[in-house]
Amino acid sequence: MKQVRIGRSTLKGSRLAFGCWRIAGTWEGRKVTAKAREAGLKAILTAHEAGYTLFDHADIYCEGVSEELFGLALKQSKALKKSAVIATKCGIRIPVGNEPYRYDFSADYIIQSCEKSLQRMDVDCVDIYQLHRPDWLMDPDEVAKAFTTLKKAGKVRHFGVSNFRPSQVSLLQSALKDPLLVNQVELSLLQLTPFEDGTLDQCQEHKITPMAWSPLAGGFLGNGKSAVLPSQEKYKPTKIRRRLDAMARELGASRAAVALAWLMRHPSGIIPIVGSTKSERIRELAGADELQLTHEQWYTLLTSALKEDLP
Ligand SMILES: NC(=O)c1ccc[n+]([C@@H]2O[C@H](COP(=O)([O-])OP(=O)(O)OC[C@H]3O[C@@H](n4cnc5c(N)ncnc54)[C@H](OP(=O)(O)O)[C@@H]3O)[C@@H](O)[C@H]2O)c1
Repeated sequence: MKQVRIGRSTLKGSRLAFGCWRIAGTWEGRKVTAKAREAGLKAILTAHEAGYTLFDHADIYCEGVSEELFGLALKQSKALKKSAVIATKCGIRIPVGNEPYRYDFSADYIIQSCEKSLQRMDVDCVDIYQLHRPDWLMDPDEVAKAFTTLKKAGKVRHFGVSNFRPSQVSLLQSALKDPLLVNQVELSLLQLTPFEDGTLDQCQEHKITPMAWSPLAGGFLGNGKSAVLPSQEKYKPTKIRRRLDAMARELGASRAAVALAWLMRHPSGIIPIVGSTKSERIRELAGADELQLTHEQWYTLLTSALKEDLP
């Protein structure tokens, strides 16, 4: 797979990232069986063999089990350890007792969360540390303090954000010395908001790499959804799937690969995060970067995805 520069840095990662959210087959750590751990480990190693070098995590994925499995995979494969570009996230607090579900960008919480992720993966440093969802009480100076502490301690190489609106990116960036490398947002033919709200414009202008989560809308643009977020339940894929199928036949590719190629055609350099747990799909989608859609093909899919005709 091609390697690309990430954000304004010399760091390079695979053209498609591999996402570790679903690898343990459940969201709850205590429900992970030995068989599921084995399957998760296999998914990571398959992704590595298929050429993915950029791996996306979060502290909350399967309540830490996804990061633990990645740590095991790093022990099993020296080649993975050498090539892996590790991205993980913090900032969402899973409630204990009567606590509310909340986001927390306090310096102590960011630093502690990072140290726990390092322990789970048994690594000294992560390549990209991302803030998962904007904390409504974000104080950019406090975040900057946490970032400086982590960087000085050699625990993080670069920082990024996720699900930030352009104004929130600008606000945080104004307090930071180093450029934010990525903004990870939901982006697919069934979720076009980042094209319309300035997110991709900002990424292009400031060379922030947009990473697309749920690039197949949780499976709607592949062979069907498995578990999706509540906000994705309402997606109506019939029309766009028909159009993707026709183009897939034309190009001799799969519907899912065409949906990913559509994202990669955008000049902002979108990196789709592949979320499949199935070996054949992980391997097949690694080839999506070979597909080059024409301007006309790109608009054919866009106009099928839009709710209204272009003016
Ligand atoms: N920053 C955030 O807030 C955020 C939120 C959500 C996700 N993420 C990141 O984004 C990654 C990807 O998200 P996602 O898992 O929702 O991505 P996705 O690619 O949209 O969906 C993957 C799901 O689609 C299913 N699927 C059905 N047909 C498929 C096909 N032909 N090819 C591939 N998958 C197919 C997969 O099932 P099988 O496993 O059976 O193939 C899997 O359950 C996550 O792993 C995580 O790293 C970030």
